[in-house]
Amino acid sequence: MSYRNPPTPPRKSATFDDASLAEIRRAAETGIYDIRGGGTKRKVPHFDDLLFLGASMSRYPLEGYRERCDTSVTLGTRFARKPIQLKIPVTIAGMSFGALSGNAKEALGRGATLAGTSTTTGDGGMTDEERGHSDTLVYQYLPSRYGMNPRDLRRADAIEIVIGQGAKPGGGGMLLGQKISDRVAEMRTLPKGIDQRSACRHPDWTGPDDLEIKILELREITDWEKPIYIKVGGARPYYDTALAVKAGADVVVLDGMQGGTAATQDVFIEHVGQPILACIRPAVQALQDLGMHRKVQLIVSGGIRTGADVAKALALGADAVAIGTAALVAIGDNDPQWEAEYNKLGTTAGAYDDWHEGMDPAGITTQDPELAARLDPVRAGRRLANYLKVMTLEAQTIARACGHNHLHNLEPEDICALTIEAAAMARVPLAGTAWIPGQTAF
Ligand SMILES: Cc1cc2nc3c(=O)[nH]c(=O)nc-3n(C[C@H](O)[C@H](O)[C@H](O)COP(=O)(O)O)c2cc1C
Repeated sequence: MSYRNPPTPPRKSATFDDASLAEIRRAAETGIYDIRGGGTKRKVPHFDDLLFLGASMSRYPLEGYRERCDTSVTLGTRFARKPIQLKIPVTIAGMSFGALSGNAKEALGRGATLAGTSTTTGDGGMTDEERGHSDTLVYQYLPSRYGMNPRDLRRADAIEIVIGQGAKPGGGGMLLGQKISDRVAEMRTLPKGIDQRSACRHPDWTGPDDLEIKILELREITDWEKPIYIKVGGARPYYDTALAVKAGADVVVLDGMQGGTAATQDVFIEHVGQPILACIRPAVQALQDLGMHRKVQLIVSGGIRTGADVAKALALGADAVAIGTAALVAIGDNDPQWEAEYNKLGTTAGAYDDWHEGMDPAGITTQDPELAARLDPVRAGRRLANYLKVMTLEAQTIARACGHNHLHNLEPEDICALTIEAAAMARVPLAGTAWIPGQTAF
């Protein structure tokens, strides 16, 4: 009797999976690389891989209804004459007018102000709506210098020198012609309707020594009042933080690879930079080695969604966090109410990322006046404030459960990790063990 193997199902390659095959075909068809908005879509180690231990016999929890858990933060205590005081440690990250509609920028300002926090301009200058609706506004000073002028430096409450972004460390932004309206063109001194690519490095300095001189110049222009932040992408966080401190930063902003962008090459978003989880401890270590932890404040960003993420970032040593993508979702980005229109664009709510095309049904990543009018900045601002409130309450709940009366008292000892990777990156023990990979003996 002959034996016949049962038929085996056809096997697809794990290397050449469906997504890789589709991208090869798309590239072959068009000859154009893929541009999109948002952050990395692949799974990388993140705050979800950490857990809080909570109080037990050795720690004493705080009573939610009777015992206070402070959430305030002061930024810029090193040199600035007017440090920034925020009620909550969640700030709104820099997102440009141009990438976002005027209504979206206004909504971010309104929401941040209601919640007692700051918002930030972006690679396109400061709009009057944004300044008018933001109690605390951080003004970005970028390689492109779009819209930069001394008047707006003085109108700001803090200045953020952007060296890089987590989504594209080493790269500049893109704004395609569809989004360069009359107003955007005027603010950026660019021709209308023509694709532009922002510079990836500052034109007038090349390293920390000349940056130190640039920072002194900015302090002179603003009478030493404004805190100066330096924003870096998650590349070499230990050295980048140390060099930012050397150059004279009051605040370091560290943005990991999950961080969103308005538009850049997909290959950049997915293959350059490190997850924020891997960046926080080296940055804190640099501050500690220089005796500057808590003197130069650290803001971290990249994929922050919940109060648990905020609490974990703070427990690892950050002073505050910044959110971009989550703030856009709170005001209405990728909302299922526009599903039929997302479908017409060949996508679905939650996956829409062609922000560079300026056709956003939610009216957020567009300069089309009809689409932009769909976003009510007052209602959207209220939604953002609600969301920020929930995040803060969640972080407070966790801090109280760990026995802390201020979010800043959260510490690495409150945390364990679910995976060896996360334990190594966050430098906390693997759950159920005392093992910190790379730090302690097994
Ligand atoms: C639509 C959009 C526009 C952005 N524009 C800028 C910008 O102009 N300058 C900048 O430094 N970062 C910019 N970013 C990055 C954010 O400042 C921030 O680093 C990032 O969004 C944080 O990660 P998250 O989106 O996961 O919260 C932008 C992000 C988004 C989503």
